[in-house]
Amino acid sequence: MLTHLDCTKCAKRHEAGVVHTVCSCGAPLYARYDLARAALEMRPGHLALREPTLWRYREVLPLPEDAERVSLGEGFTPLLPAPRLGRHLGLPNLAIKEEGGNPTGSFKARGLAVAVSMAKALGATDVCLPSAGNAGSALAAYAAAAGLRAHVFLPRDIARLFVMETEAFGARVQLVDGLISDAGRVCAERAKEHGWYECATLKEPYRVEGKKTMGYEIAEQMGFSLPDAILYPTGGGTGLVGMWKAFEEMEAMGFVGKKRPRMYAVQAEGCAPIVKAFEEGREDAPFWENAQTHAHGLRVPKALGDFLILRALRESHGAAIAVSEEEIVAGVKEAASAEGLFMAPEGGACVAGARKLRASGHLAADDAVVLFDTGTGYKYVENMTPLWGDR
Ligand SMILES: Cc1ncc(COP(=O)(O)O)c(C=O)c1O
Ligand SMILES: [Zn+2]
Repeated sequence: MLTHLDCTKCAKRHEAGVVHTVCSCGAPLYARYDLARAALEMRPGHLALREPTLWRYREVLPLPEDAERVSLGEGFTPLLPAPRLGRHLGLPNLAIKEEGGNPTGSFKARGLAVAVSMAKALGATDVCLPSAGNAGSALAAYAAAAGLRAHVFLPRDIARLFVMETEAFGARVQLVDGLISDAGRVCAERAKEHGWYECATLKEPYRVEGKKTMGYEIAEQMGFSLPDAILYPTGGGTGLVGMWKAFEEMEAMGFVGKKRPRMYAVQAEGCAPIVKAFEEGREDAPFWENAQTHAHGLRVPKALGDFLILRALRESHGAAIAVSEEEIVAGVKEAASAEGLFMAPEGGACVAGARKLRASGHLAADDAVVLFDTGTGYKYVENMTPLWGDR
């Protein structure tokens, strides 16, 4: 029930059913739906009977009803109460949205299931993106499942596992000197040259639609109420702005009220453009020079949706916070020993962020807090080894 797309900056309207990248003004596009109709079909009682994947929210996803879904069983991940970790952090009402069980081990599966389904429906034969690792392997897996060719551009210093995995799915991998921003430049050039369908974060409008389902799931799993606060490890920020969009849609459909969770972006001290911009009161976040962190998903020096992230943080009365490499690894160990979850370092960053936000009074002891673990730690052994410490 996609009706059209709107520019997130200049509000220009774009038609559905054709390939889109960004608006002529350069800003990302957002998909819009017939929410009145969706509200009738998605009533909570109906939803409860649906399949345990993100496609349970099909009325607010862009894929036409008669198009082929490219699915590996993504989404509807557990929202796990975390009482022991919560006690350590002074947050007894803590829950963890555990995304590591998604296909290819991270929440990137959500965005790419929807983006690759749309690419196929719109007639693409080749899909491409730059990646810090997880998005690349997710694209490769969904392209394999769709019968499309994938081209993935990765920073040269990426852990070997991500290259092996992506190549195993049949994608062409190109290693690029520098960071994801450099890989993005090369990817965009090649895409233009060969006419490939580009799936870079927010450069096409449908990955964010897949990621927004995290917002629908949290609401549904909490009985259509929302938590007081959400902590999200922020690189490109697609999940954060996606959830913000989901809450707006759910309010329009009458599923939740006006109250929103306070949104907290967690970044690494070695790459914290959103934190800096938030603290300086800026509406955009300038390029972060010499970005460094072992949490490669957070090594994003410039986000296309920076203004959308900053807007959601401010409108929600949330904040942005940076944590150190040592705190990230300590967070991974703490969640593992307290709750039996082996998190990606990006999840560990949220554990560290929660402790700091509690200490500074941003989070109160009686807040219902949802913390995101966006991927499995099992893919990050190489990344975390230098910081793990002697046995
Ligand atoms: C495990 C993990 N967490 C978080 C992120 C950042 O996600 P986003 O781009 O939605 O901010 C990434 C991105 O690569 C990731 O792989
Ligand atoms: Zn525009």
